[in-house]
Amino acid sequence: MSERGLIATVILTVILGLILWPDSLQEKVKKRCETYLEKHGRPSQNDCEKIWASFTQAFVGKDPCGVPPDAYDSLIHPVSQKPACNKMLFWSKTKEIVHEFAKNCSYVTLEDTQLGFLLDGLTWCGKKESQEIFTTGCPSWSDCVNNPVRSFWIQASAAFAASACGDVSVMLNGSMDMSYDPDRTFASVEVKHFNSSIMNSLTVWLVTKEGDTKTCDSDESLKTLQTDLGSYLKYQCKVVSQSQLQTCIAD
Ligand SMILES: *[C@@H]1O[C@H](CO)[C@@H](O)[C@H](O)[C@H]1NC(C)=O
Ligand SMILES: *[C@@H]1O[C@H](CO)[C@@H](O)[C@H](O)[C@H]1NC(C)=O
Ligand SMILES: *[C@@H]1O[C@H](CO)[C@@H](O)[C@H](O)[C@H]1NC(C)=O
Repeated sequence: MSERGLIATVILTVILGLILWPDSLQEKVKKRCETYLEKHGRPSQNDCEKIWASFTQAFVGKDPCGVPPDAYDSLIHPVSQKPACNKMLFWSKTKEIVHEFAKNCSYVTLEDTQLGFLLDGLTWCGKKESQEIFTTGCPSWSDCVNNPVRSFWIQASAAFAASACGDVSVMLNGSMDMSYDPDRTFASVEVKHFNSSIMNSLTVWLVTKEGDTKTCDSDESLKTLQTDLGSYLKYQCKVVSQSQLQTCIAD
């Protein structure tokens, strides 16, 4: 091949590469990390690199179905941040509306914490005896229990719930038969980690859309929630319509 031909080939390959593989996982996480630090002003300049290093040690070189939740302990515990007492918001099956609402009304969801923000919506896994990081072909949430993404969210959810303090809120989906679904993370992980010596109450916002007839009393699953909360945490429940949430609810 002529020198010109070679240069043209190289350039074409690079351009194709940029189109087909836009940002590596590392670049994406790094960008998000910098965005987060700009917004929240955190100390220690190499925070982002340290986070990346402890993040990858949790799953790189491991079977993609062999990463248990505690593999992330050395990532999650050092990064855990000062909880926003009285402003912490959990959710189950209301992901879209909850984040818009949280932003407008300065509530804090798991996805607003540093680690949640860095990894929200991303997929990752490794491979046994390999240093590679994959973002496709990874096991999905239900493929195997100990998959890297699921295990991260379980451990991060548990830590977030354990730090919940003061009056805490949760947005549940009033269009579902069981708004408190025992199989979802809120019931199976988060409620179990609430700590009644720092948390005072849980308020359920049951989000309904026009035409829904759901009330707090008609949803049997909420009785299970009250039982799971035990007698030390106060419980209340309000029905709110999606349109009400469009404007920030002051109380
Ligand atoms: C409740 O769940 C239904 C069905 O999954 C979904 O279409 C709807 O957007 C959810 N409601 C909210 C407020 O997220
Ligand atoms: C958030 O605020 C924007 C701009 O004020 C508004 O358009 C949007 O509807 C609000 N959303 C929620 C969920 O409060
Ligand atoms: C609950 O919070 C208290 C006060 O911060 C703490 O001492 C205790 O270890 C926590 N309990 C659990 C189970 O984490």
